[in-house]
Amino acid sequence: MVNSITIEISEEGDIVVARQKGRSIAKNLGFSVVDQCRIATGISELARNIFLYASTGLIMILTLIENNRMGLEIIAKDMGPGIPDIKLAMLDGYSTSNGLGMGLPGTKRLMDEFEIISETGAGTEIIVRKWLN
Ligand SMILES: Nc1ncnc2c1ncn2[C@@H]1O[C@H](COP(=O)(O)OP(=O)(O)OP(=O)(O)O)[C@@H](O)[C@H]1O
Ligand SMILES: [Mg+2]
Repeated sequence: MVNSITIEISEEGDIVVARQKGRSIAKNLGFSVVDQCRIATGISELARNIFLYASTGLIMILTLIENNRMGLEIIAKDMGPGIPDIKLAMLDGYSTSNGLGMGLPGTKRLMDEFEIISETGAGTEIIVRKWLN
């Protein structure tokens, strides 16, 4: 890790802030415009879930250097209700809020690595990574 920023999510406008920060960091690292968009969209979905389901939380964006490659890691962390059934939450179309149920599975498809750690009543941490190729 060489660099990191943290964006607090507590109001709807923070979702846009996180999205824009992510895009600009991705651009500076050298990601293609398409990948910048993928990264920005993933951040936006994770931040929106924090706002919707946990009210408040954090988006951390970290620059990764590993062996000979660079990448971006996004950590979305909240102390909300948690996700009782992660398999269910990862299904296309599953939503407890009448949403499209595409945020988590869509983000997984947009990124290279995707991991959810969640405990009912304790909160949720989602870690995603995208590598520069
Ligand atoms: N941070 C979170 N805390 C608690 N539950 C969450 C969190 N993020 C997602 N979930 C649960 O997982 C479900 C699926 O999330 P996902 O983002 O895929 O769909 P959605 O938010 O319902 O709809 P969409 O994102 O397509 O508008 C949510 O409906 C919610 O029940
Ligand atoms: Mg969502």
